[in-house]
Amino acid sequence: MNFAATQTKQNADLSADARNFGVQDRVVLVTGSGQGIGRELARQFAAAGAKLVVADLNLDKAGAVADEIGTAGGEALSLSVDVSSREAVEKMVASTIERYGRIDVLINNASIFSALIKRPFDEIPTEEWQSVMNINVNGVFYCASAVAKPMKERGFGRIINISSASVHRGTKNYLHYVTSKSALIGMTNSMARELGPHGVTVNCIRPGTVATEVPARVASLTPEVLQRNIDLQCIPRTLVPSDLVGLSMFLSTPASGFITGQTIACDGGYTHSF
Ligand SMILES: NC(=O)c1ccc[n+]([C@@H]2O[C@H](COP(=O)([O-])OP(=O)(O)OC[C@H]3O[C@@H](n4cnc5c(N)ncnc54)[C@H](O)[C@@H]3O)[C@@H](O)[C@H]2O)c1
Repeated sequence: MNFAATQTKQNADLSADARNFGVQDRVVLVTGSGQGIGRELARQFAAAGAKLVVADLNLDKAGAVADEIGTAGGEALSLSVDVSSREAVEKMVASTIERYGRIDVLINNASIFSALIKRPFDEIPTEEWQSVMNINVNGVFYCASAVAKPMKERGFGRIINISSASVHRGTKNYLHYVTSKSALIGMTNSMARELGPHGVTVNCIRPGTVATEVPARVASLTPEVLQRNIDLQCIPRTLVPSDLVGLSMFLSTPASGFITGQTIACDGGYTHSF
């Protein structure tokens, strides 16, 4: 679709009705949605009428989330994927298009996170460093690459990359993770430049420390450290996965079509000065 046609289409869409502010019937793929933040996003998007793809390394967990969505009256397809494999990612996107005919929203949420053990950076084994980069950085590159063509052809698309508040403050003993999440900000900015003319926006969300159902195996995240982080927030309470739903959903709508290349914190004001 050429630039003028894309603009006309977007303008026409926006003048249509209030559905521009929702995700009803949107096809939304959330990677790493078998648990944690991804699971909550999948459940809430489905509750808002989106058609979900619940993709995860762990198919049993993805299946359980899809079943939960189905039981609640929503629609979801569960898929097994290792985002660090370009071939597997391309298969995931092909299966999505086969099932739903299109893909409107990609949320790059999968990462090695809760399973990572913190250690001084000079003690991180090479294989562990590479594995974090393969999943957290290459995985986002592969997923975005696989959806770019179908989104450009339709003249609509939303890509949301999940980064982390740790990239600005830095975190001790977590260099591979923080480096990988920093890469997503540059990736977001550059992808946004390439995809903007095609009606596709690319944005990044930086959550603070989120209390998910899976306790992070991060020894330094003691109750005292968690409380200190809460004290640094403007809103002094624990950040929970559902806090990320509103921003993710807004960035998925036609209404957010002029917002791109942005990194937006959702952390209760923990990093508001950055
Ligand atoms: N929980 C937090 O405090 C927090 C804070 C900031 C950012 N984040 C980011 O939010 C996202 C979700 O975090 P979470 O706490 O829910 O994480 P989590 O570790 O609980 O869940 C991650 C999910 O990704 C899946 N996954 C891992 N490797 C994969 C791969 N190679 N291919 C496909 N799926 C894979 C896992 O199976 C799991 O279901 C991550 O990107 C994380 O870095 C989390």
